[in-house]
Amino acid sequence: MAILVTGGAGYIGSHTTVELLNEGREVVIIDNFANSKPEVLDKIKEITKKDFKFYQIDYLDKEKLEKVFEENKIEAVMNFAGYKAVGESVKKPLEYYENNISGAIVLLQTMQKYNVKKFIFSSSATVYGEPETIPITENCKTGGTTNPYGTSKLFIEQILQDLYKSDSTWDIAILRYFNPVGAHKSGLIGEEPQGIPNNLMPYIVRVAAGQLEQLSVFGNDYDTHDGTGVRDYIHVVDLAKGHIKALEKLEKEEKGIFVYNLGTGVGYSVLDMVKAFEEATGEKVKYKIDCRRPGDIAICYSNPKKAKQELGWEAQKTLKDMCQDSWRYIQKIKK
Ligand code: UFG
Repeated sequence: MAILVTGGAGYIGSHTTVELLNEGREVVIIDNFANSKPEVLDKIKEITKKDFKFYQIDYLDKEKLEKVFEENKIEAVMNFAGYKAVGESVKKPLEYYENNISGAIVLLQTMQKYNVKKFIFSSSATVYGEPETIPITENCKTGGTTNPYGTSKLFIEQILQDLYKSDSTWDIAILRYFNPVGAHKSGLIGEEPQGIPNNLMPYIVRVAAGQLEQLSVFGNDYDTHDGTGVRDYIHVVDLAKGHIKALEKLEKEEKGIFVYNLGTGVGYSVLDMVKAFEEATGEKVKYKIDCRRPGDIAICYSNPKKAKQELGWEAQKTLKDMCQDSWRYIQKIKK
């Protein structure tokens, strides 16, 4: 039985595929390379020395998707396909809603048709909007998202809850990611944003590499220890391992729909990140203080206890690993 990974050539999809293959799982990837490159597939094979089946298709293409289910014995689906740029989602809401929500619906309908009912969904801490309490537990209220990207995650979570209510033979894990950073230690796969990065770590790395002049720190007047925004940065390999644990739960437990925060439970500010990066790599990161970025919140970090108790998962990698692995990756792709 195979695990279908949608968006398997993407940042989190590729790292999760590596972990699945390392666990001896059979994997089928679909990807349309909307925000990824075909070379990533070879890198996954190079890292794992294992093979997998690949289809270059768009998950909105129902006919082609059905063919994948016909040609393979799929046990479970991990859905990493989807657009993820917050700013872009504000400019292109229809594209975001169509791709993320319609894509998820087509995928779920196809799963239903082929009686595949184990689903792991990439959600985001963004569904908590302005967090009710810090650290954020899974019981905190969701809603109040400030952009179509975040709203698409919120809607899909609701769709999954409704689906489970209508048919309790589904097994669903909703994983709410905090801030994924870092790269595989081989330096072969990592995050490769197209154009100028929006997220902090890819930006820091490019400033250190001399590709961008300086980092703009978006606000130093937040109510935090140094005035800059605080987030829960989690190494992408830890995140990937969380998916394996969620899959194992769906395989062994009774039916259910489960929600987990995947974070470290520790918050670092923008300036903490700059300092940690400089210490970990010996590289200088030039920055200036700029105004706040609209839609940003002051503090967001998880309470990751539920995942520890129920999945036996917790983040292992340090902030130093996150910085060094991000740096190693960009050094390799620069060559
Ligand atoms: N930041 C800067 N300068 C930059 C980029 C970011 O100061 O050039 C700051 C932000 O203001 C924020 C922190 O760095 O305080 C982290 O910002 P990111 O853009 O890296 O991440 P966000 O927390 O804004 O958003 C991320 C993901 C979203 C997801 C959200 C969940 O990008 O997809 O976490 O909380 F929805």
